[in-house]
Amino acid sequence: MEKVDYDVRLHAVYDAGRRMSAEATRTWMAAFARHLPSPRPLTWLDLGSGSGRMTPSLATAFGGPAFGVEPSARMRTQAIARAGHPAVTYVAGSAEGIPLPAASCDAALLFFVWHHVADRAAAARELRRVVKPGGKLFVQVNFADLMPDVWWFRAVPEWREVDAALPTLGDGPQNETSTLLVFEA
Ligand SMILES: C[S@@+](CC[C@H](N)C(=O)[O-])C[C@H]1O[C@@H](n2cnc3c(N)ncnc32)[C@H](O)[C@@H]1O
Repeated sequence: MEKVDYDVRLHAVYDAGRRMSAEATRTWMAAFARHLPSPRPLTWLDLGSGSGRMTPSLATAFGGPAFGVEPSARMRTQAIARAGHPAVTYVAGSAEGIPLPAASCDAALLFFVWHHVADRAAAARELRRVVKPGGKLFVQVNFADLMPDVWWFRAVPEWREVDAALPTLGDGPQNETSTLLVFEA
């Protein structure tokens, strides 16, 4: 299967294609806050941070440092140029090799990232290592069986295979196309 080429093409158009409104961003931050303890600051890992769509908001909303870990050099370049924040650091790395010390994060986010992760067992070990005991892991995913027949599947058929790696909803409620999974470390 061809890997999705964030380094070759997508970095240039990702921001425009996936822009999130301020209201939607606030809604996501409030959803995360509902699962987190009230003392601040909280340290975040934004794993697969891409062009930094969520990372500065995590730092602002939770008052602490946020580390955006991202394998694509060009997505990181976009993030540094367009989503800078005094408490945010963007670093090279991947789910399989997170360049942060053990127990260094109160919370970790994978926002539309899990389906790209090739070695999920290694990723789970790394997340277990860097998230503090009692900390939270948030995984935002679409459901493979509820993906609409979007235009980009026709433009690049290989991406249909990438999205087939998403979890399936099966017999669950059919009115949701995505979900936020929350785990405690
Ligand atoms: C759909 S984008 C999501 C980016 C960002 N989380 C957002 O919501 O805007 C998927 C990102 O995951 C990154 N990625 C791909 N494989 C990865 C891996 N093994 N570990 C961490 N990130 C990965 C890609 O480079 C890309 O930036």
